[in-house]
Amino acid sequence: MLYQKTTQSMIAIFAMLVAVTGSVHAESAAPKLANVTILATGGTIAGTGASSTTTVGYTAATVGVQSLIKAVPELAKVANVTGEQVFQIASENMSNEHWLTLAKRVNVLLAQNNVDGIVITHGTDTLEETAYFLDLVVKSRKPVVLVGAMRPSTALSADGPINLYNSVLLAASPEAAGKGVLVAMNDQIQSARDVSKVNTSTLDSFRSSELGFLGYIQGGKPFFYRQSLRKHTTETEFDIGALQSLPQVDIVYGYANMNPVAVDAFMAAGAKGIIHAGVGDGSLAAKVVPSLKAARAKGAIVVRASRVGQGILARNGEANDDQLDFVAADTLNPQKARILLMLALTKTNSTKEIQRMFYTY
Ligand code: SIN
Repeated sequence: MLYQKTTQSMIAIFAMLVAVTGSVHAESAAPKLANVTILATGGTIAGTGASSTTTVGYTAATVGVQSLIKAVPELAKVANVTGEQVFQIASENMSNEHWLTLAKRVNVLLAQNNVDGIVITHGTDTLEETAYFLDLVVKSRKPVVLVGAMRPSTALSADGPINLYNSVLLAASPEAAGKGVLVAMNDQIQSARDVSKVNTSTLDSFRSSELGFLGYIQGGKPFFYRQSLRKHTTETEFDIGALQSLPQVDIVYGYANMNPVAVDAFMAAGAKGIIHAGVGDGSLAAKVVPSLKAARAKGAIVVRASRVGQGILARNGEANDDQLDFVAADTLNPQKARILLMLALTKTNSTKEIQRMFYTY
């Protein structure tokens, strides 16, 4: 009798244990995956070549988003992935209007509870510009990750699939939240503000050079080591919600024997801002100064940037910015200075205020 009772209690305890450990097992077997939306815009990551050895002279933007997703079944292990084809273009054709459309879509999606992060597939040529634009106008702390590829999808050792996998796992990871718009290329995590394409063709073309990249993606996990201190996303003053267009801002490139033709032509075409990508620390050739002064006198904002690619553009260094009423680009390269100036001009025409923005973002 005693033996029977003991056996019954043991069976009951065993059943309880099975129930408990069974439920623990069920949970760990099916962890809740984040919902990541891939917005495809074209580029080499969606490109195809004539053969597996075609790594130049291929056609960008030919493969649709569903095929990109299908080509990497491993994505399903790191996130619930959905795809949208927003554009299908080579990124040299990216325009202000494309940016506004894309940013508005990103903001709508990130406001939804069923979207945890966004990946944007993009051509590498202007990827850094789209990334910085989004960094300034996305109104969410949820991860937004841009990704491209240096080799078309048909190439031997194409980098698109691994880059896409890394970008999705980054967009799905809580560590990526609140760090601004990120770029995932070549196993590295870069910040939108500091990254640039610095090589025409190699796999490690995306670098943040002196300011440094943020971390690595290794073994299916992101590892962060640093973060940009410049304000971004939810901390910016820019709101593109009601904007249909952006002010015209153009870039003039500095070189020996530079002439003022480009400045005058951009002004005649209605420019509201000129980025002067000067030599060295943004020096101004004497021949060009009268045209830049005339541009400012007509109300355009002139920003001195540098074509060098690294370093701080010193305010009142190679030119007297206070006297000329010009703005110094700080560490932004000319193409990113153009983006910040366009957005700044949607808020103010004051050079003082715009200079503040260049030291803030
Ligand atoms: C492009 O930018 O669309 C073409 C080049 C590339 O994606 O690498």
